[in-house]
Amino acid sequence: MNRHIAIDGPAGAGKSTIAKALAKRKGLIYVDTGAMYRAFGLFLLRNEIDVNDEDAVIKACESADVSIAFENGEQVVLLDGENVNGLIRTEAVGNMASACSAIARVREIMVARQQQLAKEKDVVMDGRDIGTVVLPDAHTKIYLTASTKVRAKRRFDELTEKGVACDLAKIEEDIKERDHRDMNRAASPLRQAEDAVLVDTSDLTIEEVIEKILEISNG
Ligand code: DC
Repeated sequence: MNRHIAIDGPAGAGKSTIAKALAKRKGLIYVDTGAMYRAFGLFLLRNEIDVNDEDAVIKACESADVSIAFENGEQVVLLDGENVNGLIRTEAVGNMASACSAIARVREIMVARQQQLAKEKDVVMDGRDIGTVVLPDAHTKIYLTASTKVRAKRRFDELTEKGVACDLAKIEEDIKERDHRDMNRAASPLRQAEDAVLVDTSDLTIEEVIEKILEISNG
């Protein structure tokens, strides 16, 4: 059986930074499942499909080819064969991803692709439903979180560093809204798996979080 590490948690908890570093240390492949929902969100935006029109979204999801490939060990998200890595990190795409990921059939399609990937490779996979739905038998399950304030500040610093003007209070509001949507949808809401270990990163450095997870996964 493959040795998988599942990392779930709300937006801004540090999942991708931590998962990427862990994958490097353990020689595993890092799979960012949020990028798949984002690529599909981009497809909906490009094709002006109303995310509230569930039938249209499902039809689109059945025809859009969202897949993951690896180039030099880095994940590349392909939308109908096009590398869209550089186009999926905007707020607009993130909001579309959050909205379309609430549709059960969309999740079914994405989850099947994620499970197929994990069948072929040892992975560190991050998302919202990895420990609960995608990889229920993962040998290590982590629920990574941090206070809303800390997550908002991290996002603020990240944007400011990129030279993007932004408002801390507005970012915090957006994070709360996104959490609410991800945690309260009917289809696989974000929650801690019963056998996942909670790691609160609010007062920890990246290195401390990695050490903690390595301890958990080796123990
Ligand atoms: O992790 P992220 O911000 O890139 O994810 C974008 C959206 O996709 C997020 O609002 C929730 C959704 N998502 C999900 O429902 N299940 C996953 N496994 C990963 C992401």
